[in-house]
Amino acid sequence: MILQQSSWYSRRRQIQTVLLAGLIGVLAGVLPARAFQSEHPLSGRRIAPVMGAGGADWLERKERDMEENPEAALDAIGIRKGMTVADVGAGTGYMTLRMAKRVGPSGKVWAKDIQPEMLRRVRRNAAKEKLSNVETVLGTESDPKLPAGQMDVILLADVYHEFSQPQKMLQRMREALKPTGRLVLLEYRKEDPSIPIRPEHKMSVQEVQIEVEAEGFHLEQVTESLPRQHIFIFTKPTIH
Ligand SMILES: C[S@@+](CC[C@H](N)C(=O)[O-])C[C@H]1O[C@@H](n2cnc3c(N)ncnc32)[C@H](O)[C@@H]1O
Repeated sequence: MILQQSSWYSRRRQIQTVLLAGLIGVLAGVLPARAFQSEHPLSGRRIAPVMGAGGADWLERKERDMEENPEAALDAIGIRKGMTVADVGAGTGYMTLRMAKRVGPSGKVWAKDIQPEMLRRVRRNAAKEKLSNVETVLGTESDPKLPAGQMDVILLADVYHEFSQPQKMLQRMREALKPTGRLVLLEYRKEDPSIPIRPEHKMSVQEVQIEVEAEGFHLEQVTESLPRQHIFIFTKPTIH
């Protein structure tokens, strides 16, 4: 009986220790605060957790070109010489480098991410390719820290679904676009259950339209020419 009681006490102490450690971890920022998932207030969509720096190699996987056809995406978006563009949520620079080659030395690509390790890899990859028209800048979860009114295109490639504060990000990106600028989202098609990605990492046309138009954009075009992703092109409606 005494033995049973003492093992019950030690079990209770173990549980208390685990709970306390978890609380300290979250408060100290050791554990990802995003373990507590939230929902978008308008669409009810579950927001995906941010991909950690451990996912960097996956972003550079060999089969990705076949799955996503990034050059076809950039053709459809219309990235041209001399443009100023931003790759928000640039990861390791999969799209940054391709855009930098297209805009050429007279253009510029701002590569933004919230993880310094990702931006280090962008700089390393750009240096390998001898690209000098890429600027990396660390943003926050609510602000991409882009200069106002200068972007021809802001690209969010497989990123929007993991913004923890999508409404604030959209407001800031709207300010960063030129009056004729376009916001482009690439998102895996949620409507297609055969695409092997977890549902919170995909988006439907309906979800994107509800969420993005609510922040002052107009959905100009949805293109379905890619193997797995929707291409959404948004413009800023002119205010009279
Ligand atoms: C799935 S990865 C995609 C990376 C890249 N666009 C690509 O296609 O290879 C998503 C990236 O978005 C970044 N991210 C998440 N929330 C962000 C935010 N609020 N602002 C900027 N970057 C963000 C993450 O750090 C991560 O590098």
